[in-house]
Amino acid sequence: MSNPVLRVQDLAVNFCSHTGGFLRRKERVLRAVNGISFELHASETLGIVGESGSGKSTLARAILGLIKPSRGRVMWLGENLTELEEEALRQKRKEIQIVFQDPVASLNPRMTAGDIISEPLWTFYPNMAGLQVEERTRGMMKMVGLLPNQINRYPHEFSGGQCQRIGIARALVLNPRLVICDEPVSALDVSIQAQIINLLKDLQKKLGLALIFVAHDLSVVKHISDRVMVMYMGCSMEVSQRDALYRRPLHPYTSALMKSVPIPDPKLAAKARQDRWLTGDMPSPYNPPRGCIFHTRCPYKVKRCEADVPALRRMENGDWVACHRAEDLDLSI
Ligand SMILES: Nc1ncnc2c1ncn2[C@@H]1O[C@H](COP(=O)(O)OP(=O)(O)OP(=O)(O)O)[C@@H](O)[C@H]1O
Ligand code: SF4
Ligand SMILES: [Mg+2]
Repeated sequence: MSNPVLRVQDLAVNFCSHTGGFLRRKERVLRAVNGISFELHASETLGIVGESGSGKSTLARAILGLIKPSRGRVMWLGENLTELEEEALRQKRKEIQIVFQDPVASLNPRMTAGDIISEPLWTFYPNMAGLQVEERTRGMMKMVGLLPNQINRYPHEFSGGQCQRIGIARALVLNPRLVICDEPVSALDVSIQAQIINLLKDLQKKLGLALIFVAHDLSVVKHISDRVMVMYMGCSMEVSQRDALYRRPLHPYTSALMKSVPIPDPKLAAKARQDRWLTGDMPSPYNPPRGCIFHTRCPYKVKRCEADVPALRRMENGDWVACHRAEDLDLSI
């Protein structure tokens, strides 16, 4: 197999804040991302899933260099991005792009589709001829399934799905090698979600892109991911090959997320609710549980889970899990 394009090594992001008055000032640390490691190859998709607040967007932003990590490295084609100066890092953004969650809110309402898609070209290639920029912009619109004659329309004249196509065209216009999609379909109707996921899959195949696809819900990443990482309170709970994960999750949290997938039929949903056990809220991130970070919600916990932090370790099949009991639990679906 070829070398990975991206190697994330022990990446951590802490947010510090202060509580109390002048005399009782106390620093609080929120570990939004805590020791994440993974590799990604060209043409490969890693799905990242976890509940709200599990650190998915912070991880995405740290990889892009939009937040300075507190620890760890982001190796991009063998180069450590966390050590680069601002201008060198900015140049790397040609190669690593992001697609945002809310397509309508993320587009500037005062710019036309053409202006939005071509803006990165003007930024990185200010001397490019206007005609060439327009040709590339129209080509991108066609590639993402928009009509090139819509180039002068404004975002409010497009549907949510079409706005996301504009966001994708903008992300691809510089020919990146990695695109990070941070919940790109969660603001869209279910019927449109599948269209956007299929579009991303097709573009990935055509362009050989590496993709990171972030979602709340395991069902959303199922068809696009080669591997899936499940995050909880900033930590990686499991990183598994797609088919193995959906057949037999290794971590109780993955299994719980699977059972939490919304079911449209009310009768089936009521029955499924009885079996569900992802109860209670996530603990305060300022005061995470000792031992296994998931133990306060895990029905399989044993005494040891309250004291010992389970390391993320490799199983026989090559997948990774952070659970003391991974060998003796059968969480098959
Ligand atoms: N700039 C910030 N300052 C302080 N805390 C932050 C900041 N950004 C995020 N956090 C906190 O870090 C944790 C992880 O947030 P993050 O947005 O990465 O989660 P997420 O998994 O993307 O959630 P969601 O699914 O809701 O988008 C949360 O507890 C959040 O409140
Ligand atoms: S280590 Fe213990 S508490 Fe944590 S997931 Fe495994 S069984 Fe549950
Ligand atoms: Mg997020």
